Amino acid sequence: MKARKIVERVYWLGAVDWDRRLFDALIPLPDGTSYNAYLIEGTEKTVLLDTVDPTMTNVLLEQLKDVRNIDYIVCHHVEQDHSGSIPDVLEKYSSAKVIISTRGKEMLIDHLHIPEDRIITVEDGEILSLGDKTLKFVYTPWVHWPETMVTYLIEDKILFTCDLFGSHLATNELYAVDRPRVYESAKRYYAEIMMPFRTVIQKNLDKIKDLDISIIAPSHGPLYDEPGFIVEAYKDWISDTPKNIVVIPYISMHNSTRIMVDYLVSSLTERDIKVERFDLSSVDLGKLAMSLVDAGTVIVGTPTVLVGPHPNVIYAVYLLNALRPKTRYVSIVGSYGWGGKTIDIIKGMLTNLKVEVLDPVIVKGLPRKEDLDTLDRLADTIAEKHKEFST
Ligand code: FEO
Repeated sequence: MKARKIVERVYWLGAVDWDRRLFDALIPLPDGTSYNAYLIEGTEKTVLLDTVDPTMTNVLLEQLKDVRNIDYIVCHHVEQDHSGSIPDVLEKYSSAKVIISTRGKEMLIDHLHIPEDRIITVEDGEILSLGDKTLKFVYTPWVHWPETMVTYLIEDKILFTCDLFGSHLATNELYAVDRPRVYESAKRYYAEIMMPFRTVIQKNLDKIKDLDISIIAPSHGPLYDEPGFIVEAYKDWISDTPKNIVVIPYISMHNSTRIMVDYLVSSLTERDIKVERFDLSSVDLGKLAMSLVDAGTVIVGTPTVLVGPHPNVIYAVYLLNALRPKTRYVSIVGSYGWGGKTIDIIKGMLTNLKVEVLDPVIVKGLPRKEDLDTLDRLADTIAEKHKEFST
């Protein structure tokens, strides 16, 4: 794809990775992704904002083939999907320097072996004049790593945000035109990448709230020419109040746990609680992560295998703990054959979460009538607890 004009002498460059299906060898990408870079030509200086994943360096270099000079490359974030082509761009433009936050300098040297004399650091709030265009750098740590910052192009009111507000979505639409689709991709992106830093994002949104922004230009997915769309979505996702939703990741070996999950879903439904359930034997972990964004309660369903939870459940609980959703309640349901430590193991994995653990329902063998009655009581408890944020 060729460079695309955003406004006068500001261009989208970059690569659309239509076929990529996994990120960080971990995150599913059902809709691909893009690595957006941006070129700004001031009357005195020319700047490239971010680069592309090293697997697609050739795409960026082709877009730059008629660009005679680049003075600066702004590195908002050292992760290689944005910084990975910096060495090639520095080689092509021998006098170019990389601009980065103070925290990022050492990371850039460590991860990409950029020579120290090719790096300039900027402070939070620092201004750089390109002649008739002016950049302001704003530190926004932990969106996604500690060194991350954004750049505001003052005259054109464009905020370049790198990972923040991004979406893993391969599209040839420059702007977020297909809003339902972009919302879905952006929420998936938030859930997988940003949710662990929810409280820090709140502080970062406060730092940019007074900027007059016409366009938000992230480094994944389409741009937002109506920034309120994505900013309001983020405000909802990062808020402290969950929704009246129970998320049930579960797996069943001999049907006992499945019977319990089926019964609990029905019981919660009778109490007007939305349920999102995920069979961990064939789950899209991205969808599970998205559900966790709003979940008031998570119920883990597992059989006991070799004295502990099923390994797929351990994986999901590890993810739950790592993603740190705003969930307030957790419980465990499942079945065992003759003994085990399933409850203690799962509880012990939830060290990052500020949750109340509701009484688990663990039964020996096939659930009996009294076990199902206990599930009704668990549903009653959840319904009562959810009143605090569903009214
Ligand atoms: Fe898109 Fe944290 O890299």
